[in-house]
Amino acid sequence: MEKIPVFAPHIGVDTLKHVTDALDVGWLGMGATTKEFEERIAAFLGLKDRFVVVTNTGTSAFHIALRAAGIGPGDEVITPSFNYVADHQAIRMAGAEPVMCDVRDDNLGIDVEKAEALITKRTRAIDPLHFAGIPCDLDGVYRLAEKHGLRVLEDATHAFGSLHRGRKIGSFGDITWFSFDPVKVVTSIDGGCVVVNSEKELHDLQRLRLLGVDKDTTERYKNRRAWDYDVVSEGYRYHLTNIMASIGVSQIKRVDEFIASRQQVCKQYNKAFAPIEGVRIPPTDFEGVSPFIYSLRVLKGRRDALIAHLNARDIDVGVHFIPVHEHAYFASCRRGDMNVTDRVTKEVLTLPLHSNMKAEFVERVIDGVTGFFS
Ligand SMILES: Cc1ncc(COP(=O)(O)O)c(C=O)c1O
Repeated sequence: MEKIPVFAPHIGVDTLKHVTDALDVGWLGMGATTKEFEERIAAFLGLKDRFVVVTNTGTSAFHIALRAAGIGPGDEVITPSFNYVADHQAIRMAGAEPVMCDVRDDNLGIDVEKAEALITKRTRAIDPLHFAGIPCDLDGVYRLAEKHGLRVLEDATHAFGSLHRGRKIGSFGDITWFSFDPVKVVTSIDGGCVVVNSEKELHDLQRLRLLGVDKDTTERYKNRRAWDYDVVSEGYRYHLTNIMASIGVSQIKRVDEFIASRQQVCKQYNKAFAPIEGVRIPPTDFEGVSPFIYSLRVLKGRRDALIAHLNARDIDVGVHFIPVHEHAYFASCRRGDMNVTDRVTKEVLTLPLHSNMKAEFVERVIDGVTGFFS
């Protein structure tokens, strides 16, 4: 029987053509295709007076977003422990300290009341995650940020194309950042981007992305280098090359198709699993949600038995996440009550979800889960 992977990239001949065309141009580094990817992201998100900078990973996107927001040594940033460790590492890379907050039991997004209890004089920002593509309590997050004068840097790595109150995540708010890593809905193999509100922050990000060089971006966007430049600040080697961007461009052209196909599978999963007493399905009908993963909650301590059952049927699964406060390097971080996090991390199970997933795979996953409970 063919093994069903939990993630599967969707790379078609269209992507191969984009890459060979980009190779033929002969300018392999950051250039005109990088700019085209940024323009297509802006068009897809429907940005008005907001600006996009692409980077070589989502983690680097967040790192320079923090720096562009002026966050550094002595500062604290509140983020869930129920999150990928990339966030906590990037906060430390910026010189700041992550403070870990619990999540809500319904959408597994940050618990705003618990976040408020963690605010001190050192708190500068909040980094909420839209887990699995389902928007977190954004109204609550922005109310809290306004009340305490905090920056918001939304981790939208799971939510490229999700809507909040009819608007695409990233098209409004403060800073939003995305990932285009190998398993995301849109991939550039590795990549990420930051969306900001001001031209000043746009230019800061462009400089931070390229070794602190003040004017190279404009030249490179024309597949040229600048030879008279100054280095005016700290900077990193975080640019996205034309070759990687060409993959991103090929993918974003098909993003609506990818999202629709994933929504379809998630709806089938929800329908099949809703009647099962031993599980909780995601709290959405997937309208307006761009699902990165399908995360099922397995109750009464039966998750590991279900994993064994599915693995025996050649169905691969994942667990998102191990709480970051359990990792040695972050165990000493300040944190609040982790009641929900500690419980849900033992319940969550990521089932296979692919763009244009084979119908036979979907049936096998459904049979595997329902068979275990019947
Ligand atoms: C929640 C979350 N945050 C941050 C990242 C980091 O993104 P990247 O892998 O592009 O650096 C990921 C990627 O897996 C993620 O899932």
